[in-house]
Amino acid sequence: MLTKKDIKITKSKTSTIESIDFNNLAFGQVFSDHMLTCDFKNGKWEVPQIVPYGPFSLDPSAKIFHYGQSIFEGMKAYKDTSNDVFLFRPIENAKRLNLSAKRLAIPEIPEDYFMEGLKALLDLDKDWIPTNEGSSLYIRPFVFATGQGFHASPADEYKFVICTAPSGAYFSGKVNVLIEEKYSRSANGGVGFAKAGGNYAGQFYPTQLAKAKGYQQVIWTDDTSHEYIEEAGAMNVFVRINDTLLTSPVSDRILDGITRKSILELAEAEGIKTEVRKIKVNELVNASKDGSLKEIFGAGTAAVISPIAGFGFRGEDFELPKLESTFASQLKSRIIDIQTNKTEDPFGWRMKV
Ligand code: PLP
Ligand code: COI
Repeated sequence: MLTKKDIKITKSKTSTIESIDFNNLAFGQVFSDHMLTCDFKNGKWEVPQIVPYGPFSLDPSAKIFHYGQSIFEGMKAYKDTSNDVFLFRPIENAKRLNLSAKRLAIPEIPEDYFMEGLKALLDLDKDWIPTNEGSSLYIRPFVFATGQGFHASPADEYKFVICTAPSGAYFSGKVNVLIEEKYSRSANGGVGFAKAGGNYAGQFYPTQLAKAKGYQQVIWTDDTSHEYIEEAGAMNVFVRINDTLLTSPVSDRILDGITRKSILELAEAEGIKTEVRKIKVNELVNASKDGSLKEIFGAGTAAVISPIAGFGFRGEDFELPKLESTFASQLKSRIIDIQTNKTEDPFGWRMKV
């Protein structure tokens, strides 16, 4: 078992922290001083090390460039008022990274390399964790193929990296979504359930088209009938009809979001009725027309819980009502309070670093 002490640390000679405006953080635009790197060579993962944040040098034939063998995770670190550092359900991220790795024929990362490496990195760059409301240290673990050659087969060498970015909100302003019927994010038997880089690249063009029409995000529908909503670009989707909170079941095509499953448990604990079932676009349209559609919100690590202001479907726009009190804000406060050690954590989700 690897421990923090096994990790070689090369400290950065200078720090950029003084140049960061912690009161005006965008999402994922500035990066902490150090990163964890770990190479897969000769059939095994080498001992991870921590080095100054900086660029990589790669051979032009590295398979990441040609065949997109690349996966990632998204998580956050929080600091409480006593300066203690916390992660939220980090083992779930380590496990999901390996689910993604397996699907993309990438060698799995030992869980202790992931966890011990991450803890050592956070120890070193602890000062980078913002404390302002709505900010946190976004953590990006990723793995990509560095092995060389144009043969379309899995690489023999990989790099696992964790870098971190003090970040503010993922969305600024209102979020209107377009329900997409032509393009698909994923298909049965595909890689939609994995956090594969290509899943996101494939969404950019349809999302650009939606943006040109004034929407910030796309809600994907199932690839076969396009009758059912699935998830958004970087979030799982929740719908409140009357007082029931609905979300689609996860599948081959939908990411099994950690925020999503936490919200389902939190809602139950708050006495909110939940249903995990397929949701027809027509059901949303009808519920919007008869007034029973109260809320739609997206849920994810980066986005936390982001209320949707309205949705477009087949050229028509449907506005969500503006309610005094929403499930979105109730659940958002609950989850943030647990993440930032403001309340008890009856679920055992918080991990002190
Ligand atoms: N769906 C997609 C496609 C995502 O990229 C994300 C973000 O990670 C999520 C859902 C939400 O997952 P999580 O709550 O684990 O961050
Ligand atoms: C996250 O929520 O961590 C994500 O991975 C979303 C990302 C695509 C910004």
